[in-house]
Amino acid sequence: MSIQVHPSDQACGAEISGIDLTAPLSEEQVSQLRAAWLEHHVLVFPNQPMDDDDLERFTLYFGPFGVDTFFGPIPGRDHIAAVRRDADETRPIFAEAWHSDWSFQEKPPQGTCLRAVTIPPTGGDTLFADQHKALDAMPMELRERLEGRMAIHSAKLPYSPGGAYGDSDQAAGRSMDIRPSEEALEERLHPIIRPHPETGRPGIFGSFGYMIGIDGMEGPEAISLLQELYAWQTRPEFQFRHEWKPDMLVLWDNRSVLHAATGGYEGHDRLLHRTTVGAE
Ligand code: SIN
Repeated sequence: MSIQVHPSDQACGAEISGIDLTAPLSEEQVSQLRAAWLEHHVLVFPNQPMDDDDLERFTLYFGPFGVDTFFGPIPGRDHIAAVRRDADETRPIFAEAWHSDWSFQEKPPQGTCLRAVTIPPTGGDTLFADQHKALDAMPMELRERLEGRMAIHSAKLPYSPGGAYGDSDQAAGRSMDIRPSEEALEERLHPIIRPHPETGRPGIFGSFGYMIGIDGMEGPEAISLLQELYAWQTRPEFQFRHEWKPDMLVLWDNRSVLHAATGGYEGHDRLLHRTTVGAE
């Protein structure tokens, strides 16, 4: 059976059928998937009753495992983290702000895989925003203020001990194994507008939150510009809304899209197993 790619009718994303991810893939299948991934940025694989061995094998077709700096791994695995929220949990939804995973690393991960383990009957969609389309449509006046600029990326707002997922959040009963640390205070520079490392297509990399400033620009001016950028790059016309079903796997390209979690499943458990595909 050959792979079929069904593009969504939204800004990006495609559903893939004609493949069994519980078994090893051929080189031909992997190269077809990679081409579809680079074109559509988010691949959704329905009806894949995978386990964690399958998830690890699938991840390694796309690159090495990434480094999950502030997550503890699930028991018995070094590279799988649990994105978890329990039915009775009251802490804010994890990852509800738009972001590109671990963009504060020196070599941020190419991609992320999320495998459905427990999916609530309603809510909990994941949103994606196509950063090539956001750049293509950007008003020239805004683009001119960003072109050639380097953003300062850091994990300090979420993952430092005093951050949103810091010590007090852990103490208040978040179920996810998040491990805040002083390492979150480190800063790294990445271009705000850059070509995709594989396709060369220009796009916006990162967003306010992990971006905490702009190199060579005064703090308040930089924050205001990053907020203006955030409002632009997450507009509805650049989005794809993914609705989870049991036995689904999703792979996205952090170099091309931002993503954000959503709530709406109070009183229900939600659990996904996550790997990252490390840098090229
Ligand atoms: C994440 O950002 O890794 C989690 C996304 C989600 O929970 O939908």
